[in-house]
Amino acid sequence: MAKKLKVLYLTPEAAPLAKTGGLADVALFLPKSLRELGVDIRVLMPFYQLVREKIRDNGLPAPKPGPRFTVIVHGELTPARVHTAKLPGGVTLYLLENERFFSRAGVYGEAGFDYPDNHLRFIFFSASVRALLKAVDFTPDIIHANEWPTGLVPAYLKTLWKDSPRLKGTRSLFTIHNVAYQGNFPLDVYPATSLPWELFSPAGVEFYGWVSFLKAAVLFADLLTTVSPSHREEIMTPEFGFGMDGVLRERKASLMGVLNGVDYKTWNPEADPHIPAKFSAANVAGKKRCKKRLIEELGLDPSLGARPIIGMVSRLARQKGIDLIFPLLGHLLRNEALLAVLGSGEGWLEERLSAAATENPGRLGLKLGFDEGLAHRIEAGADLFLMPSRYEPCGLNQLYSLRYGTAPVVAATGGLKDTVEEFDPKTGEGTGFMFHEPATESLALALGKGLALFGAKSIWRKLIRNAMGRDFSWERAAGAYLELYEGLMLRDTEPAEKGPVSRGTRRTP
Ligand code: ADP
Ligand code: GLC
Repeated sequence: MAKKLKVLYLTPEAAPLAKTGGLADVALFLPKSLRELGVDIRVLMPFYQLVREKIRDNGLPAPKPGPRFTVIVHGELTPARVHTAKLPGGVTLYLLENERFFSRAGVYGEAGFDYPDNHLRFIFFSASVRALLKAVDFTPDIIHANEWPTGLVPAYLKTLWKDSPRLKGTRSLFTIHNVAYQGNFPLDVYPATSLPWELFSPAGVEFYGWVSFLKAAVLFADLLTTVSPSHREEIMTPEFGFGMDGVLRERKASLMGVLNGVDYKTWNPEADPHIPAKFSAANVAGKKRCKKRLIEELGLDPSLGARPIIGMVSRLARQKGIDLIFPLLGHLLRNEALLAVLGSGEGWLEERLSAAATENPGRLGLKLGFDEGLAHRIEAGADLFLMPSRYEPCGLNQLYSLRYGTAPVVAATGGLKDTVEEFDPKTGEGTGFMFHEPATESLALALGKGLALFGAKSIWRKLIRNAMGRDFSWERAAGAYLELYEGLMLRDTEPAEKGPVSRGTRRTP
């Protein structure tokens, strides 16, 4: 039998234990699907305070405390301990404990503010990897790291750890979920990374005078991925690269776009424990009951129940383009539709939405906060689902919407463009509605198309059936990652573009 591939999957968050966005879902379901394909994959994340609580809430077995060890961070001997647990689905989860850095209520921050020592927290996390692997006696063929908090690891593999007997053959793959989050810190942070000074240059990990953890990964990872084919192209342009486009173009040959997937056990309207009535493409009757209950739950006016409900579940950030709907709201809610919104995030958006909810009682149902169950009930009870993102690397909610027969109305960007097909009432083909300019007028046209067709019952049924039949399961994505892993193993240990590149890394932001 062929030897099992061994992979360490590094992530700052994994559902259901620590979740701020889509990465947490990916970190749960991609490793699970890769394990089902025969990969010995283990996940490592920080042992945040909230993880302890979520383990209890989810009835998961208590993590087993393992060896203690120390890691040098900024010249200080820092204590660490590894605990071993299982994620739902059976993947081994290593939790890295450190009182000072992780015994806190948040993942990256609290009350809308990042922790001021995030650089040290994630330097510690990254620097711990080598000692932790020794402590648990695991030698990965590949380290698959995600987002800037793990960005130093590919750089450590090529510098500080290059002669480590355990890690000298280990390749790295780094996934960019959101290139706008870069982990850029002031110059005085640099010594704490322990990287050699010669790497602090525009051709290295310097980013306009700052230290960039993301740039370290982009330069040093053997292979890079982002989360949809269209977004791969986008991040190599100045418009969507957030200053990293130059260095990404340098690594173009090693940058792939792999679309995320959906866990159809969790997101299945036929068996979803969060929704009041089940339904399927063959029998959508239950969706009506879900709509009725959503109206009650969000305090919408039941006498307007024949109108379409537009759902939104989102981080409230500029990226998501929520503000594009504000100029439309008055007309929309007076005459055409109801809105069901769940979100949390930036204060200015929370305030604008609260004000809109107060101005439109019974027509705009709003819950501010994070609520897994309500996210499912909005997907099930709404008729259309709006995602006006200014950019969207992949997006998961449009995929959930498709399966729940809730027509997505999306901006034609990144993963949204790759997963939603414009519905054509003439041919009956397609799954949703798209707009091409990040502008209110453009959004209004696409939304208008959807709202107009909602009244045409037989056409709408066709649209819903198309949507519910689409398959974006994790098995496909996991197969694609397995191929990338196998390809990496055939490569020489040194990447084609070795170490810091010398061209095109300086751009005016
Ligand atoms: P991003 O990672 O950019 O926030 P994604 O669409 O990839 O966007 O993933 C968002 C995930 O977080 C989805 O699973 C979505 O249902 C969930 N989510 C976002 N906001 C909330 C919220 N307020 N309550 C519950 N779930 C939420
Ligand atoms: C990021 C992106 C989102 C993507 C998610 C998971 O948070 O904003 O589009 O779906 O990561 O990859």
